[in-house]
Amino acid sequence: MEIPVEMVGIDERLVLEYAYAQLTLSRLGAIMSEKTLSGPTGGRLKEDALGRRKFLATATGLASAVWLTTGPGAKASAAPVVSAPAGALAIAVGPPVRATMLEAKLSGPQYYDDEEKQELIDVLENRSPFRWWGLDAKGHPPDKCINFEKEFSAHQQTKYCIAVTSGTTALMSALAGLGVGPGDEVILPAWTWYACYDAILAHGALPVFAEVDDSMNIDPTDIERHITRATKVIMSVHILGAPADMDPILEIARKHNLKVLEDCAQSVVVSYKGRPVGSMGNAGIYSFQVNKTISPGEGGAVVTSDPDVFERATRYHDCGFLRDGHAKVLAQPSHLKDFSSPNFRMSEFTAAVLRAQLRKLDRIVGDFRDKTTRITDGIKDLPGIQFRKKNDPGGGLGNWVFINTKGKEQRDAFIRAMRAENITAEPMGGSAILPIATHIEKKETLQLDWPSFTVGRGKTIQYGASACPKTIDVWNRYVGIPMDPKFTDQDVADIIAAVRKVYPVVMKA
Ligand SMILES: Cc1ncc(COP(=O)(O)O)c(C=O)c1O
Repeated sequence: MEIPVEMVGIDERLVLEYAYAQLTLSRLGAIMSEKTLSGPTGGRLKEDALGRRKFLATATGLASAVWLTTGPGAKASAAPVVSAPAGALAIAVGPPVRATMLEAKLSGPQYYDDEEKQELIDVLENRSPFRWWGLDAKGHPPDKCINFEKEFSAHQQTKYCIAVTSGTTALMSALAGLGVGPGDEVILPAWTWYACYDAILAHGALPVFAEVDDSMNIDPTDIERHITRATKVIMSVHILGAPADMDPILEIARKHNLKVLEDCAQSVVVSYKGRPVGSMGNAGIYSFQVNKTISPGEGGAVVTSDPDVFERATRYHDCGFLRDGHAKVLAQPSHLKDFSSPNFRMSEFTAAVLRAQLRKLDRIVGDFRDKTTRITDGIKDLPGIQFRKKNDPGGGLGNWVFINTKGKEQRDAFIRAMRAENITAEPMGGSAILPIATHIEKKETLQLDWPSFTVGRGKTIQYGASACPKTIDVWNRYVGIPMDPKFTDQDVADIIAAVRKVYPVVMKA
C-alpha cells in the first residue's frame, strides 16, 4: 500500500486513521470477507473486523516510525505518493511478504499418480468392487481390502487390521471390540473431533471429558479424577499430527484395569518413543477422510493385536458375522455367536487407492517434516517464541507449526497480521472444544431417554465451559500455520519471513 504524500508529516494519529480507513475499505475487507477464523466448536467465527482502536494501538509505534520519515510540511501537490518502507506489516501499510495467499492443500490427493490409477483399473477389470466376492473376471478373487489390511497392520506393527468405511465407524467398531455398552464410561479429551463423542454415544455409553494440555492432547494428570467404577476405556486421541503422552496414560490404565483406545485419525504414521501410534493401547483407529494424510476420499481402519478385540470388532463392522477371510486372519477358534450389527465394510475401490497411498505414506510424512523443520529452525531464535509442547519431539507428523501467544486477542492479531502477509494462519482447527458445542452441552440426542443419559452419572453429568477451562485456554492461545508437504522453497522462506516480521510486533502489543 502507498500513502499519499499529503498525509505525511501531519499528526501521526491522523495518518493511522487514514491507513485504517484504507485498510478497512480495501485489504482488510477483502481478506476478512473470504477468511474468517474458525471457532472453538469448528464453526466459523463472525469476523469482528480489526477494531479501529485495536488497530491504532497496534500500528502506532511500528508504523509511525516508517511512515513519518519525510517530516512535516511535505507538499500534497508534489509527487503524489511515497512507498511504505519495507519491513512494515502488511496489515498496517507495508507490502505483504508474498503477492498471493499461501494455503496448504490436501496432502494425499496431491500424490495421486499411475499407482492409484493401476490399482483402480485392477478392480474395474476384475469386476469385483465388493471385498468378499465378485465375478473373478481376471481369474482371481477380490484382494484389495484383505491386502490393505495385511499391509497396514504390518506398517502399524499390530497383528490385525479391519478396513472400514470411515474413522467414525472405526471408532464404533473399536469400542464394540473393547466391549463398551450402556452403563460404561469412556474418558476422552475435551478437544477432539465430534466422532469421538458420537461413537461413545452410539453404544449408549457415557462420554466423560478430560482437559488437554499444551501438547493439545489429553492431559494425563487430568485423567484419574474422572475415573469411576463405570469407567471402561480411556480414549487417547493423537491430535493434529502429534502423539499423546502414552506412558502415563498406559500406566493409569494398568493401575485401574482400563482399556486404552488410541484414535490416530489425525496422526497416521506418528510415533511415540519409537512405537507407532495405534500399537500401544488395546486398539487403534485411523481415518482416511480427505483431510487426513492419505486418502481415497473416505475410509477408516481399526488395528489391534488382541484376537478377541479383533473378532468382536470385525463381527461388529460386518453384520455380526465372521467371514472366512477374517476367520483365517483370526487363526483361532471363534468365541462368539453371530449377533445383530451394522455394515461398515470398505469397498475394493477404496482399498485400491489406499494401497497405493500407503506405499507413499513415508514419503509424504518426510516431505511434511522437512518443511516443518526448516520453518521451525528459521524462527526458533525469535526472543520468547514458544511452540506447541511435544510429547515426542521426533514423533510428529509435521503438518502444523503452532506458536503460543498470551491469549485470544494477541492470537487473533497474529492471525490477521499473518493473513495480511498472505500466509494462512488459524486458531487450532480440525476439531472442536466438544463440551461447549451447544448440542453436547444440552445433551441432545436423536431420541429422548438415550441410555447414555438415563443411567448412573449420565443423569447428572454437566458439560459446558466449566468442564474444560484449561482446554479453552489452550485453544485461545495458539496460532497454527498449516503445512503442505509440497510447499516450495519459496513458500517455506515466505512463512519464515512473515513470522519474523509479524511475531515481534504482535508479541510486543
Ligand atoms: C480425531 C478424529 N477422530 C475420528 C474422526 C472421524 O473420522 P471420519 O471423518 O473418517 O469419520 C476424525 C475426523 O476428522 C477425527 O479428527
